[in-house]
Formats: sequence, structure tokens, C-alpha cells
Amino acid sequence: MTVLTPRERLIVALDVPQAGEAERLVQRVGDAALFYKIGLELALADGGLRLVRRLADAGLKVFLDLKLHDIPNTVERAAAQAVKLGAALLTVHGYPQTMGAAVAGAKGSGLKLLAVTVLTSYDDEDLLEAGYRFGVAAMVQRRAEQARALGVDGVVASAAEAAEIRRTLGSEMILVTPGIRPAGAEAGDQKRVATPESAISSGADYIVVGRPITGAPDPRAAAISIVAEIAGAAP
Ligand code: C5P
Repeated sequence: MTVLTPRERLIVALDVPQAGEAERLVQRVGDAALFYKIGLELALADGGLRLVRRLADAGLKVFLDLKLHDIPNTVERAAAQAVKLGAALLTVHGYPQTMGAAVAGAKGSGLKLLAVTVLTSYDDEDLLEAGYRFGVAAMVQRRAEQARALGVDGVVASAAEAAEIRRTLGSEMILVTPGIRPAGAEAGDQKRVATPESAISSGADYIVVGRPITGAPDPRAAAISIVAEIAGAAP
């Protein structure tokens, strides 16, 4: 994998309800960040998906976090549309059919696919309740291995899972880690948080940071300080 600079490893989550508000945030962050995540809320806002193309045209990278899951034909065609929009990263749920279809849809393009193994809002009991035979840890590993076997480029993983996934899957898979809080920051609704430094040291290639940047009085300064924390971590 190409060596990323600390600034390239930060993904700012644009979790806001309006495209105009998202664009203003991007302007306020300025050159302190190069990569932005657009999730379901913003994608479904008026102009949300057009923003993917606008940011890509401005030389920024976009992580389209739509967590696709449908029949293979639909997922394959949706992934091909994400390629046309200019997204750099796209998430799909970690079901083998879904992952295989997304790989087919993105084939030959620059779009990288990430599998969501198990949502972090699920615990062992939730998985049992939903009818699964495995607990979270086993399911995360199983799906990460299936993702790699199917040609998915990487997985979304908490910092707690990152080290184990890195150990078992090697250096090729892209690991993207949300649930990041700078030292001393509010956790909010995140249950398991890690600092930028510990996430990177655990093997994350990219960290996703939302509110600590988007809710800061000075989003640019907050991003610069997080990039400095990334730079201070062991690669
Ligand atoms: O504001 P905060 O830094 O908590 O935002 C984290 C972002 O990462 C949100 O967009 C959230 O949906 C996303 N995410 C997460 N945990 C996951 C997957 C995605 O927090 N397991």
C-alpha cells in the first residue's frame, strides 16, 4: 500500500442535514483535511449526492457511507453508480452475496470498497436475537476474512477490533476506524472510543472523526490538532 501522510489519513464525517451546511464546513476545515464522509442523512438531503461530485471535482476524496445491502444485481449496479459519482470509498454490509456484487460493480474503477462487519451498536445478544450463531468477535473475524477472499478492499472496524484484524488479514486490507475522540474529548453516544494515536497504532489506515471537528468552535484548528496526533502515532 502507498504510504499515506498523516493528513491523508483523516476522514471528516459530514453528519449534517443540509448540503449547504456541509459545504460550509468543508470550507472552514480548508486544507486541514482532504477526505470527507457522506452518510445516509446527508446523501438523502437535497443536493447531498451532488456534493459527492462537487467535492471530487474540487480534488477532495469522498467516502460514501451508504452501507449497501440488497440483491446482488441491485448492489452491483448501485456500486457502478457510486463510481460515476466520483466516490473514493463505498461501504457495503459484510454479507458474502452483497460484497461479491459490489466488487463486480466497482471492477476496473478507482472506487475502493469497505465491508461493514458488525455494526458497533450490536452486541452478542443482539446477534443471537437476530438469529446468528456467532458472537461479535467471531462474526467480525469471519466477515473480514470473507471480505478479503471476495476482493473487497477493506473493512470498517473499531480500534478495539483493528489490531486483531490487522494480525489475521495482514497489511493489504484497508482499515477504517470510527469512534475516535482526541485525548480529553467528550465520547457522546460512542461506547468504545479510541484516541487518534491509539487507533493508528492499532493498525488503522484511516480514522473517521465527526463531532470533535464538526462541532468544534474552530473546525480547522481541531482537524490540524488531530492530524498532529496521527503524526505522533507509531505507523
Ligand atoms: O461524530 P463521530 O466522530 O462520533 O462520528 C463518527 C462517524 O462514524 C459517524 O458518521 C458514524 O455514523 C460513523 N460510524 C461509527 N461507528 C461505526 C460505523 C460508522 O461511528 N461502527
